[in-house]
Amino acid sequence: MPCIDANTMLYGIIGHPVRHSFSPLIHNFAFKTLNINAIYLAFDVTDLPSAALGIRALGIKGLSVTIPHKTSIMPLLDEVDDTARQIGAVNTIINRGGWLIGTNTDWIGVVSAIKERGKIQGKDYLILGAGGAARAVAYGLKKEGAKVVICNRTYEKARSLAEELDLEVIKWEDRNDFRAYGLVNTTPVGMWPEVDKSPMEQKALKNYALVMDAVYRPLETCLLKQAKLAGCLCVDGLKMLIYQGVEQFKLWTGKEPPIEGMFKIAIEILQNEQN
Ligand code: ATR
Repeated sequence: MPCIDANTMLYGIIGHPVRHSFSPLIHNFAFKTLNINAIYLAFDVTDLPSAALGIRALGIKGLSVTIPHKTSIMPLLDEVDDTARQIGAVNTIINRGGWLIGTNTDWIGVVSAIKERGKIQGKDYLILGAGGAARAVAYGLKKEGAKVVICNRTYEKARSLAEELDLEVIKWEDRNDFRAYGLVNTTPVGMWPEVDKSPMEQKALKNYALVMDAVYRPLETCLLKQAKLAGCLCVDGLKMLIYQGVEQFKLWTGKEPPIEGMFKIAIEILQNEQN
């Protein structure tokens, strides 16, 4: 990376908490590799309106937005694009000369991750969960031509998401009897430290050709272990995470980031965490 000097451009992530985030590592790695005079920092933000003023006042060039600010940031921006509006969340801010534009790259993360292993167009997918992540997954899969079915512990939430994005719904109790091409888990079930939990029974996994878990701590979740055993194509949550960051980097810099290296450093960190 060039020396930090008076021309260094500032990027970052706002969230609460943010200390666990991979984004500073992967974006700084990309800036350094491409010799771009920029730095990416993590900001633990609780006062969002003041932070939005700060972005403009300090000329921060671009920001990632994470939990719990993805929806509440929307009215504080100058413009929110159609994609972010339909998903109902902004995960990326672009600062064009003080004019803050909000967009969403989470859906591209999912689509790119799945397309590496399997198909979307014309296939049917079951999504577990109906929160923020499920919204981006459902939007992406639908946009790419899949038929999407939602299944959530709280049925009412699944129903209202399905109505909004024109999806189908099944009851949580029926999930192990369902059959589709793909299954995507967006619930936190199986996330560290509850690594022995899975949202599905082993016998149900034979009903799917491809299984993706949005959980990436651990990298190989209990659900993915079950899926592997059943012979499914497996897609881990880190892929989704890195690919949404790749898209952000392209939007901010207009340049292609070093994807392989970004994966390598993220995997190293995850493996160290697990040892
Ligand atoms: P995110 O932004 O990561 O999607 P979220 O908006 O809090 O997080 O949504 C989490 C989703 O996981 C919800 O759909 C939640 O189900 P409820 O609507 O019933 O709360 C689901 N979820 C969380 N814990 C779960 C569990 N132990 N079993 C099944 N579903 C769970």
